[in-house]
This record gives sequence, structure tokens and C-alpha cells, in this order.
Amino acid sequence: MKETIEIAKKVLKTNRRSGYTLPTNNELYPAQWNWDSAFISLGYSYFNMEYAIEELEKLVSGQWEDGMIPHILFHDNDESYFPNHKTWGCGNKIPSSGITQPPIIVTVIKKIVDQNKLDQSQMKRIESIVKKLKKYLDWFYNYRDTSKIGLVSIIHPWESGLDNSPIWDSSLDKVKIDENLSYERRDLNVSRSSNRPLKKDYDGYITLLNQFKKNKYNPSKIVSDSMFNVIDIGFNSILIRATKDLIELAKKFNLNFADLENKILKSEESLIKFYKDKDQSFFSYDFKNHKLINVDAISNYFILFANLQNQDINNRVINKLKKYNSQKEYFFTTVNPKDKTFEETRYWRGPVWINSNWIIYQGLKNKDIKFAKLVKKITLKLLEEKNFHEYYNYTNGACLGANNFSWSAALYLDFKFE
Ligand code: GLC
Repeated sequence: MKETIEIAKKVLKTNRRSGYTLPTNNELYPAQWNWDSAFISLGYSYFNMEYAIEELEKLVSGQWEDGMIPHILFHDNDESYFPNHKTWGCGNKIPSSGITQPPIIVTVIKKIVDQNKLDQSQMKRIESIVKKLKKYLDWFYNYRDTSKIGLVSIIHPWESGLDNSPIWDSSLDKVKIDENLSYERRDLNVSRSSNRPLKKDYDGYITLLNQFKKNKYNPSKIVSDSMFNVIDIGFNSILIRATKDLIELAKKFNLNFADLENKILKSEESLIKFYKDKDQSFFSYDFKNHKLINVDAISNYFILFANLQNQDINNRVINKLKKYNSQKEYFFTTVNPKDKTFEETRYWRGPVWINSNWIIYQGLKNKDIKFAKLVKKITLKLLEEKNFHEYYNYTNGACLGANNFSWSAALYLDFKFE
């Protein structure tokens, strides 16, 4: 165990660049990613608070004028990645992508503040991040909650963080692919194609990117014109939790974020409408094509992370989750193996990801401590046996994707020490 802890710290330190940390040390992801950085910061908080705070400062330093924090910041203009800073062609001070990722950063900061005794200067630095996060959450509600129901849309699968999840399949199929599309993928040079998204997925991703670029990333226009618009359960669960956590954080700093309070009521009311009694499940909704997305994916259970004030629904979700991967040694698969879209080794279509387990665990621990402990035990066992990979096969724990994967290492430390 002690050895695994040391390996985890080493993974993070080795992947660290100037003030931020790469998702992995190979060439697959040579930049700073939004939710990766948040998880990474939480890992650092157990052995180097300076690194933890710097990681987040660096991330928010890429915030756009309108409040968005991009999903990628390209600090050193590396061109080995595709799509790189030249393809995106945007950024405020720091070249970046033009879309965002789940705002897990808020919950992470709250956890760090709650768990540590920070000195005055550290608290000042955190306060300044917290103010930027208010602007970030306001951006979501201003630009992405177009029907003013308290729920936001994602306009690109990459925004979800679950790039090729089958949740996006039917919506992506309806995107009219650019006829003159020309691009060269780099991920396949460094990763197995059987584990990665398909060409048809990339055609959709790049077509959407090109359209945003054509609209100069205008935050209203790219939403109203987008060929992809999904109200995702996983994403909205993280946002609701972030909103609740930001209100709590604000109190610690005597900041007044009271306007966020009424968002929560509305969001919860709207979100509950996506619970379908017949399936005892939440499902995401294709807002563009007016269609419920009937895929049994683990992110539908992120609803537990939102801490909805509805015990009955929470219990029903937990009961369903208990059956999701019940017979297996390792879980949770990103998609239910019984779902027709499940693929055992392909990225977000089946393998076990440590951040999914963490989100579920964080949502379970105040609702069903026994089950939460089981999730923790299984996750720690997997990491102690196999160390820190990007994702894993649920049947035998086989390592998939990149090795020395930062968030797997960081979240190991959190599971171990929180
Ligand atoms: C992939 C993942 C995403 C992650 C990024 C960097 O795009 O789908 O969740 O943030 O890689 O690790």
C-alpha cells in the first residue's frame, strides 16, 4: 500500500510541467485539461498544497472574458496533438479550446478547503479562484440554460468529458458532416485504435469544431446554431453539485452568491422530470432533436452526486445501481454490459474509469455508506493491483489506454486518505 502511495505521488510529480500537470506522461494529451486538473489538484492536496493551488490558479488563468473556462489550455503551443491550438484558433491570454468540461473544480476546491487548515495567504489565493468560479457558473446559466429551466446543454461530446459515450451516438449521427473535411488524427499514433473513438465520431467532432470557429466562438451563436445540443444528466448533476458547493464556499469567504440559491430549486425540479419510472432510471435528452436518450450509462447515476432533495428517487437509483455490475470483480463499467451499445475495451463505451467511480462514491457516501465502502474497496483493489492507467477492463482489470494516468493516481490518494 505504502508503495502504491509513493507511485501515485511520483506519477503526478513526473507529469507536472510549469504550474500544471499533464493527464499522462506520454504524447497522447500534451496540454492542461479542465477536469483532469481539478482531480489532480485534489491528489496534490495530500502532499503538496502549493502544487494543488498552483494547478487550479493555472487553470482559471485561462478563463475567457465571458466567464467560460476552456476544456483545454495549450500552455506551450505543442503541435503534436490534434486538434491543437492552431486548429482551435482561440483563447484569452492562453491559447485554448473553445468549449468547456464538467465544472468539477468547484467541488474539489470545497473538499480541499474543508479538509485542510489553510493559512491566510492560501485562503486569499483560493478566494480569488472562488470569485472566478462564480463567473464560470454564471456563464453556464447565462449561455447554456437557453430555456431557463435551470439545466444546461452541452454542444459537443467533448464537453461531457465522456468523449465517445454511446449517449451521443444518435445525436452525433444527425450532425451534417462537412463535405470538405480534412484533418489528421494523432491519437492513433500513440494509442490502439480498438480502444479509441471511431473515424465517424471524429468526423462529427471536427465538423462541430469548425462550425464554432466559423461563428468566432460567440457564446450565444454557437449554442443557437449548434447541430448538437444535449441536456446531459451527468453534466447537469456535476453542475448542480457545483452550484451547491459554491454557495457553501462563498459563506466561508463572506461572499454573497445568494442569486445562485434559486437556481438550485429550479434545476432540481427540472432534472427530476428526466427520471423515467418504467426504467427506474434517469436519461439524458437530445434537445436538438427532441428525443430521450435511452442508454444505460454510469453517468446517469451521477445524479447521486447532485444530492437531490428527494430521498425516494435517490433510493431507487441506488437500488438500480446495485444491479448494474453486481456479479463482477471490478466495476463500474461506463456502460451497462447488458446495453446493446456496450464495448468492453473501447474508451467510454464500457471500460472502468476511476473518475466515474469517484463521482459515484462521493454521491453514495451520505446515502448508503455500506455500498459506498464497497465501491471504495473495489476501486482501491484495482489500483493497488494494476496501478495508474487511463481505464480498465471490468472482467480482469486489464490496463487500457495511457499508463501513468494522472487522475487515476490523484483519486487513489483521495480514496485512500479522505
Ligand atoms: C479525453 C477524455 C477526457 C479527458 C481528456 C484528457 O478527451 O475523454 O475526459 O479530460 O482525455 O485526459
